[in-house]
Amino acid sequence: MNSIIFELKNVYFSYLGKFPALCGIDISIEQGKKIAVIGANGSGKSTLLHLLDGLIFPDSGSVKFCGSELTENAFNNEVFSMEFRKKVGLVFQNPDVQLFCPSAREDIIFGPLQLGMAMNEIEIRLEEIAGVLDLKKLLDRAPHQLSIGEKRKVALASTLIIDPDILILDEPTAGLDPLTTRHIMDLFLKLNDSGKTLVISTHDLHIAEEISDIVFVFNQEKKIVKYGSALEILNDSRLLHDNNLIHIHTHMHEGKIHTHRHAHQSYHVKT
Ligand SMILES: Nc1ncnc2c1ncn2[C@@H]1O[C@H](COP(=O)(O)OP(=O)(O)O)[C@@H](O)[C@H]1O
Ligand SMILES: [Mg+2]
Repeated sequence: MNSIIFELKNVYFSYLGKFPALCGIDISIEQGKKIAVIGANGSGKSTLLHLLDGLIFPDSGSVKFCGSELTENAFNNEVFSMEFRKKVGLVFQNPDVQLFCPSAREDIIFGPLQLGMAMNEIEIRLEEIAGVLDLKKLLDRAPHQLSIGEKRKVALASTLIIDPDILILDEPTAGLDPLTTRHIMDLFLKLNDSGKTLVISTHDLHIAEEISDIVFVFNQEKKIVKYGSALEILNDSRLLHDNNLIHIHTHMHEGKIHTHRHAHQSYHVKT
């Protein structure tokens, strides 16, 4: 039997009690799966990911992690909080939120130090992860001396070094060049092969296609309107169109006006 890691029941969340951001979310996430969360800007993807990471809590409804409810009170228990932070790692959409130390090296080792990992183990992991993400030359730079793509890789390294079982990745390839995107996607797939659960938000349908066993689709009302296999979701061009994930694209082709549906980035959906 597959074990359920996250179970959300009828979750509502609003910022400051007045800006709704999640409306009636009912989802389960099984261990070892690759989950893509897609939706237009402002549809609730980041909010859902923050909720899964125990950074915010629902106004109503419940969020369970391996059977325990995630509440502010649960995180007041230091043992629970440390165990959760070792198992679940979030990479923020905006790397600036994650990078606050004087150098990339200090940012990367901050998490493991907080979790009480031994310095020699941290050094070994730092060496490995800096090699995998090609960060060795950047370790002594301050975050403001890095490009957005470099910052994104440092933020990713600061989560991967903890080696969490569950990786929650908020638009992890935004701003990365195609080669780096490919490299990082391959890394994610390898991590999933080794048993890690991936939850990735994106509006790049290529990524949704590749990374996911299940795709959750948000609409503008901050609800999950549909979920299913990547094949099922990505072939539903009406759903994608209605939810701003593809648009009608008109151009001249052999002297005639030609109209077809066109995805954000470059994913083409046959219609
Ligand atoms: N800190 C905040 N304060 C108020 N509203 C917010 C805040 N963050 C996000 N929102 C609102 O919550 C909704 C969902 O946002 P978000 O989860 O960031 O969407 P996405 O990641 O899909 O772009 C949007 O309407 C957004 O304006
Ligand atoms: Mg977002």
